[in-house]
Amino acid sequence: MLVSAKEMLQKAKAGHYAVGQFNINNLEWTKAILQTAQENQSPVILGVSEGAGKYMGGYDTVVGMVNGMLKNLEITVPVALHLDHGGYDACLKCIEAGFSSVMYDGSHAPIEENIANTKKLVELCAKKGISLEAEVGAIGGEEDGVVGMGECADPKECKAVADLGIDFLAAGIGNIHGKYPANWQGLNFDVLASIQELTGEMPLVLHGGTGIPADMIKKAITLGVSKINVNTECQLSFATATRKYIEEGKDQEGKGYDPRKLLAPGAAAIKETVKEKMELFGSCNKANE
Ligand code: 13P
Repeated sequence: MLVSAKEMLQKAKAGHYAVGQFNINNLEWTKAILQTAQENQSPVILGVSEGAGKYMGGYDTVVGMVNGMLKNLEITVPVALHLDHGGYDACLKCIEAGFSSVMYDGSHAPIEENIANTKKLVELCAKKGISLEAEVGAIGGEEDGVVGMGECADPKECKAVADLGIDFLAAGIGNIHGKYPANWQGLNFDVLASIQELTGEMPLVLHGGTGIPADMIKKAITLGVSKINVNTECQLSFATATRKYIEEGKDQEGKGYDPRKLLAPGAAAIKETVKEKMELFGSCNKANE
């Protein structure tokens, strides 16, 4: 059964580790991530962006697939199904479809609008036992070919949003989605420390987990980060393994073109990446704690 991410992240914050959010794109991704979580006895959060939800056929399809896998693969570790960077309407749709967690990303809107929408969702999610993530300070990344350096959130705004009753908070600290540019200046730990000081027990979320060096990840965890989002790194692992299979001509040997064979190396590569991250984040063997 899907669970809210609230309790798993409170435990992570208290236990000084982080739970990974791994974004899913299809059946292979979902299965690989769930199996890795089970094998390593780690709690896990499956992230679904609005675009990925649409790609997979819609939110009901995603909920059906994930719930079916939890049952058929006998997954017993805590699993949350979470909308990643959703607009207000997408949050409503996912709550309706059976997601156990949603992120409302109002970071591009004026702070007053971000707060007003977050408030409405706090009430709705509380009624349904669904966890809610909010964001302050847009996470950078490549948009229309322009690479942003990653905005830093205002700690006072973080405090204002944290006090609305949300369950965890994403705050920009110089992190960006996708690959980091060569001249990236790293995470801003002073800002992270100020945010943590003002928001206290609130689990903090680090987006853009791909490519952040291990020492920075570990330091971020000591400063209150309890959820780390990884997407691009699984995509790169999958693409590299799939390219290798095809370049070696394996799709042309026997029934190597069978999608179950063709996609197997990519799925195995995702498993490897997810395992590495779970080890780095410290979430292995925390499923029953
Ligand atoms: P990356 O694609 O950089 O790993 O970021 C993932 C993310 O933050 C999803 O919200």
